[in-house]
Amino acid sequence: MEIGRGAEAVVTLENGTVKKWRLPKSYRQPELDLRIRQERTLREARITSDARRCGVLTPIIRDISRFELKMEHVQGKKLKEVIVPELSEKVGEMVGRLHKGGIIHGDLTTSNMILREGKICLIDFGLAFYESSLEAQGVDVHVYFQTIESTHDRPKELIEAFQAGYVRTYPEAEAVLKRVKEIKARGRYL
Ligand SMILES: Nc1ncnc2c1ncn2[C@@H]1O[C@H](COP(=O)(O)OP(=O)(O)O)[C@@H](O)[C@H]1O
Ligand SMILES: [Mg+2]
Repeated sequence: MEIGRGAEAVVTLENGTVKKWRLPKSYRQPELDLRIRQERTLREARITSDARRCGVLTPIIRDISRFELKMEHVQGKKLKEVIVPELSEKVGEMVGRLHKGGIIHGDLTTSNMILREGKICLIDFGLAFYESSLEAQGVDVHVYFQTIESTHDRPKELIEAFQAGYVRTYPEAEAVLKRVKEIKARGRYL
């Protein structure tokens, strides 16, 4: 059963296992296409597992082949459907642990978070990378704030709750939040 289809991959559910298969892109030179899909598949598997070592709940990777990942099916509701300040604070704590561990998720939307038994599981590390710069962390947080502002009521409370959680788990949080303000201002004036 198909459960997701993005720009890059087809996601299916078979016997309790999620399969994420990266699609070929005909606009790319064929050898380059193979290399990119292979690299991204491998990187997604690696970072999904590394994030768990930083204390962030992620799906268990079950198998990896050239263009395809098999992973645990995380059952629950997308955070998009159920977000409240208390949960946004937990998102902040989670992102703080991720950034402390040197990982940038790259697509921190409430559609890439699943609430399972009261805990938030982070999925979709397809755009993730390793970096510890304020700028990369700032952009990561900025994407979350933008999602909140465009898809949820009362964004202010959700954003403040995120900040409280983020500061709790990440020592550099204040500097990142300052950078987020600059990134937002840049977006306004460009
Ligand atoms: N491990 C998983 N458990 C449950 N649902 C998943 C899992 N991985 C992906 N999905 C579902 O498939 C959708 C698309 O997968 P995702 O990894 O986010 O790829 P995309 O790059 O297309 O956004 C998700 O929004 C989610 O609904
Ligand atoms: Mg996604």
